Amino acid sequence: MSATVAGGRAIGTPTDRIEGREKVTGAARYAFEHAPENAAYAWIVQSPVAKGEIHSVDGSAALERPGVIAVVSVENAPRLAAVEEAELHVLQSRTISYRGQIVAVVVADSLEAAREAAAHVRVDYREQEHHVLLDEHDPAIYDPGRVNAGYPADSILGDVDAALAQAAAQVDVVYRTPAFHNNAMEPHATVASWDGDELTLYDSNQGASRVRDVIADVFELAPEQVRVISPHVGGAFGSKGTPRPHVVLAALAARMTQRPVKLAVTRQQMFAFTGYRTPTIQRLRLGAGADGRLTAIVHEAIHQSSRLREFTEQTTIATRQMYAAPNRRSTHRLARLDVPTPSWMRAPGETPGMYGLESAIDELAVELGIDPVELRIRNEPELDPERGVPFSSRNLVACLRLGAERFGWEERDPTPAVRRDGRWLVGTGVAASTYPAYRSPATATARANADGTFVVRIAGSDIGTGGRTALTLIAADALERPLERVRVEIGDSALPRAGLAGGSMATASWGTAVTFACRALLEQLQEHDGTVPAEGLEAFADSTDDVRATDQGYSRHAYGAQFAEVRVDADTGEARVSRLLGIFAAGRIINPKTARSQFIGGMTMGISMALLEESVMDREFGDYLNHDLAGYHIAAHADIGALEADWIEEDDAHLNPMGSKGIGEIGIVGTAAAVGNAVHHATGVRVRELPLRLDRLLAST
Ligand code: MOS
Repeated sequence: MSATVAGGRAIGTPTDRIEGREKVTGAARYAFEHAPENAAYAWIVQSPVAKGEIHSVDGSAALERPGVIAVVSVENAPRLAAVEEAELHVLQSRTISYRGQIVAVVVADSLEAAREAAAHVRVDYREQEHHVLLDEHDPAIYDPGRVNAGYPADSILGDVDAALAQAAAQVDVVYRTPAFHNNAMEPHATVASWDGDELTLYDSNQGASRVRDVIADVFELAPEQVRVISPHVGGAFGSKGTPRPHVVLAALAARMTQRPVKLAVTRQQMFAFTGYRTPTIQRLRLGAGADGRLTAIVHEAIHQSSRLREFTEQTTIATRQMYAAPNRRSTHRLARLDVPTPSWMRAPGETPGMYGLESAIDELAVELGIDPVELRIRNEPELDPERGVPFSSRNLVACLRLGAERFGWEERDPTPAVRRDGRWLVGTGVAASTYPAYRSPATATARANADGTFVVRIAGSDIGTGGRTALTLIAADALERPLERVRVEIGDSALPRAGLAGGSMATASWGTAVTFACRALLEQLQEHDGTVPAEGLEAFADSTDDVRATDQGYSRHAYGAQFAEVRVDADTGEARVSRLLGIFAAGRIINPKTARSQFIGGMTMGISMALLEESVMDREFGDYLNHDLAGYHIAAHADIGALEADWIEEDDAHLNPMGSKGIGEIGIVGTAAAVGNAVHHATGVRVRELPLRLDRLLAST
């Protein structure tokens, strides 16, 4: 177990982003802004059918257009090695598995020429009937056995049916969430160039080591033959966790044309092949005594995946550790449809799952006539209720209490639909947040230069979170040196190998390796009596052993409580969130300034999910209909009212040397439930399907 670093001066100090000036002045280079000499441009051709076979691809007319260098399709693409992610086996098969699948790529001297010529690529399809709608009555729904992050699909304890039959109060409800699409500010982009058998990629991603390894596999190269460079990334949310097919295409096109190739995924294309959050159908049954103590918790979720591969959102995982109850059942089921494979989106699993659970808890509170804050406190478990192990730290109750006090919860009249402010019905709601504290192995080097400066190197990726700055604070404290003397280099697969900026584990994972490297360097310095030789000193660390040794003996999660005030127009049903307060307990907060941004960013995305975002499946064409920012509404400034995030600092020695838990994802968890619960309080109407559109509110009245 790692001891927490005591009393560092940098950690905990609100610090501006190290690269802030570079970003606001435009000096920071994002992937597509890299411009190798003699670069060509690629434009993707997509399938207009959702299911079928490619009969033929004719690129001859496109090839005659001015500036066109190549048209690549299944007819002429070189063979690639198959990898686990079937989407990366691009242009290798004639089978169409979803509408929008990549069927060809046109390479030309300019982006405009490539795009114009793409319209002249003739693809003939043998179309088949598609099936694209998730339906709980689909007989093909099956048990996937395991779900994402390696959890078993089912977890069953006690006898829920008997407990429900005897419960003084119960709820039995079905909640539905739509598909959601990640829409980072910077769409996916890759610039690929070959030098002999060596491939260089400027790419927008959540981890250069991972992209390098996967692309090396696809092209049957050694990892050392691929270099992935990504100093700045404009958002990701899970969609850039693994390389998407465009990365393979860029490399393929560059190899075939012997030119560097630039490939930018369009906003519309992001809705087809860079991932999305599966829609869910969730049935929740809760049984409780008259005192509010839960006797049974049942959470059954249904998801979709593609024909290409199994991807099962871990929707009911959070339910396994949230509340005490002797009888419990949580399950995951899957339908394989003619749709793109779903993928990771901010707090995969927890986000849809906690919407279901935290809404159902609110329904139980109403049923029992118990305050929803109090109901949650009464069901606080002593130990992890399924694993039987202690929590490394758990401050949900403290978050609920502090949040209630700050929000002014005591004055709340629980009666729904009795507060009015002009034409607005006003209500408040609460929900809990949670996210696991994970860690992955990483390596890092720390170097002391003779001039008194230090350089720390690790192949991490700052996806806009402030990761580079957090690592610099951690390194400064570990080196016992002021921040200004320390430079952290990230965003390059040539740096020491590291895992993803994903699963809210980047800072915990990379910070561990960075701390160890810095400590090792300090020891070297001591051996040199504190004097750095002219050639400098360098130390290397690998956190693998520590990550393994920090065992399974504790249940490690961050918690939070969110309090929402909503206003619903009594005539139109338009709902707005006028106030949202989140109180979190996520271990030690490394950089309060960027941490606050992470929390309120997640909460903003949660408001967006509650009221606006929805990818609408078109049954006829088998595609997401609103696949651009005109049709897919994301909260803008005007949609966000008073938003406040604060935290309770935890001292948790069972995590990592910093004592930190992740903060990137927890902010979105529970927000939609808090909003939905507040809408019920405002109107007396319980809408059990997101988003809480005005037509749904009006239809339910
Ligand atoms: Mo996050 S969805 O784990 O990148």
